[in-house]
Amino acid sequence: MPTATKKPLVVVTRKLPEVVETRMRELFNARLNLDDAPMGQAGLIEAVRVADVLVPTVTDRIDRAVLSQAGPQLKLIANFGTGVDNIDLDTARNRGILVTNTPGVLTEDTADMTMALILAVPRRLAEGTALLKEAGARWEGWSPTWMLGHRIWGKRLGIIGMGRIGQAVARRARAFGLQIHYHNRRRVPEEIEQDLEATYWDSLDQMLARMDIVSINCPHTPATYHLLSARRLKLLKPTAYLVNTARGEVIDENELARMLEAGAISGAGLDVFENEPAVNPKLLASPRVVALPHMGSATLEGRIDMGEKVIINIKTFLDGHTPPDRVHPAMF
Ligand code: 8YV
Repeated sequence: MPTATKKPLVVVTRKLPEVVETRMRELFNARLNLDDAPMGQAGLIEAVRVADVLVPTVTDRIDRAVLSQAGPQLKLIANFGTGVDNIDLDTARNRGILVTNTPGVLTEDTADMTMALILAVPRRLAEGTALLKEAGARWEGWSPTWMLGHRIWGKRLGIIGMGRIGQAVARRARAFGLQIHYHNRRRVPEEIEQDLEATYWDSLDQMLARMDIVSINCPHTPATYHLLSARRLKLLKPTAYLVNTARGEVIDENELARMLEAGAISGAGLDVFENEPAVNPKLLASPRVVALPHMGSATLEGRIDMGEKVIINIKTFLDGHTPPDRVHPAMF
């Protein structure tokens, strides 16, 4: 009697949408995390010792300490997420482990959330909601000069990182009457610039000094860590505000919190933080901040699409082909 081929062990570090888990069970020997408790370093080490494929998320630090414990059977890390700053790509490559991610499918959701923050900060949505919920008595009725915010139509938006998400933000922002400016490692093709009516700034410093709103849409890499350093943050106009749906590490968060407290910048819309899940208490205390717990791609549809991408990457790899979303250290 022919022996059944052993299904590869795929260890998934966090709970995923039902349909994704069901499909994974059908295709693989899937070890799922139904309780959704973060695994921690010890759990991750135990996982890489036995897994053929590891499916981590942004909450898992797959660093050198973890990878150095990987068994020889681990050949693929199929990240459930687009950003791969949770994984030490160099060490993975040196150990012959391929890494994939899930680009494209969370572009529109993340751009929607970015636009929501661009709108929410100057119109004081957080303050208005808090005021009604916390102390209804404080609302003494409408007045022409009460709770005034600022218009966004006609203002300058500076996008840092004009990749898929940056471009999707630009498309939305144009419809809201914003003027599009951007800084990117490479200038985008002329057709895209023309289509978005976008102005390219080679100098980030010069762009920052002239923008009304700045949106961070670049990945976190060694080159973008604290790209918005204390020095650069000080270049912003005091009336400007920042929106970050990329990674907290791109901004010097302590300096941002200090400037918000001092009124040296008018506000911030933050979906991501430097030391998640910890959030600098100064940011939470500031009435100038709209803060969200990393919800940019948090739609059911988006998370299912991400799961499908993960499955395609694993299947393609196990079938002996190069997975479509392979990432190389040089890409970041
Ligand atoms: C994901 C994200 O939810 O994909 C990314 O890079 O930042 C998030 O929107 C998260 O990374 C899942 O691992």
